[in-house]
Amino acid sequence: MTTPPLAPYPHTRLRRVRQSDWVRRLVRETEVRPSDLIWSMVVHEGEGTIPVASMPGVERFSVKEAAKAAVRARDLGIPAIAIFPHIDGSRKDATGSIAADPDGVIPRAVKAMKDAAPEVGIMCDVALDPFTDHGHDGVVEGGKILNDATIERLIEQGLMQAEAGADILAPSDMMDGRIGKLRAALEAASYQDVMIMSYAAKYASAFYGPYRDAIGSAKLSAGPNGTGLGDKKTYQMDPANTEEAIREVALDIAEGADMVMVKPGMPYLDILRRLVEEFRMPTYAFQVSGEYAMIMAAAQNGWIDKDRAILESLTAFKRAGAAGIITYFAPWAAEKLGG
Ligand code: PBG
Repeated sequence: MTTPPLAPYPHTRLRRVRQSDWVRRLVRETEVRPSDLIWSMVVHEGEGTIPVASMPGVERFSVKEAAKAAVRARDLGIPAIAIFPHIDGSRKDATGSIAADPDGVIPRAVKAMKDAAPEVGIMCDVALDPFTDHGHDGVVEGGKILNDATIERLIEQGLMQAEAGADILAPSDMMDGRIGKLRAALEAASYQDVMIMSYAAKYASAFYGPYRDAIGSAKLSAGPNGTGLGDKKTYQMDPANTEEAIREVALDIAEGADMVMVKPGMPYLDILRRLVEEFRMPTYAFQVSGEYAMIMAAAQNGWIDKDRAILESLTAFKRAGAAGIITYFAPWAAEKLGG
């Protein structure tokens, strides 16, 4: 892009177009709308709502509350909701056997939400970590996350979610080859309209901390009774890498992903921008739990202005090229922004 030749000061005064609200609105380059938002939401197996301590303002919803939330999303103009399960610890095991249970909280929530507000898209995480007692996203054997054995489980889980009525499946585990296998399984089972949003560039990040609290996932432990793996670095990406993100995304697109995602969000805006420029695919940013918690904690202390900080963060994603933002702030932001 070329910059037009600028007349030297004082003929050019860049402040002229900032002098009042009407002209600032007129020259504004990016705008966040409710239609840019995917509401990130946790559902639980019990009744009512349960606040998440590390994410003030976020509550786990029962199936019934999730259905009400879907109606609220529709009324607010939020196009889609991404749901994540909180599973009781006593029902977890080493292989996450109940991940594909057709009577589980996720399929029940999907059905209730689609019944209540069929116009709202429902996205499901395809991953085992909410269901494993060790907290990893994969099947663990001998201190190793088994890639191909995990994919088998993800396919069962994904097909179950499609059967329940999920519109978008979002594999979030970073196993190799899962997009192609899942696409093939969906096609074979006549779910050709079910979309895949790949968590294609997902980093091994400290910013997922409060999510563990939100979904009640097990604390990763290397030993003495752990899996030998105290972190997710053998599957999620090194925060230091960009070129590897390009390879990850290229593969997922080649395998049939309809949309791709960068996660976390704000610390990775450079990756987002680069991927949008490189691939021109619908590319989404996940403003994760830790990003949410940081803004809320600072706001509660009176250190930042909550409203402005949230809208500024969402605007930053749009400016960097995001087609949309997965965020816990969605209902709040949609209310502020109006339909
Ligand atoms: C699990 C998953 C995680 C998140 C979404 N899906 C956590 C992780 O990968 O460790 C994070 C969401 C958030 O922090 O808001 N596959």
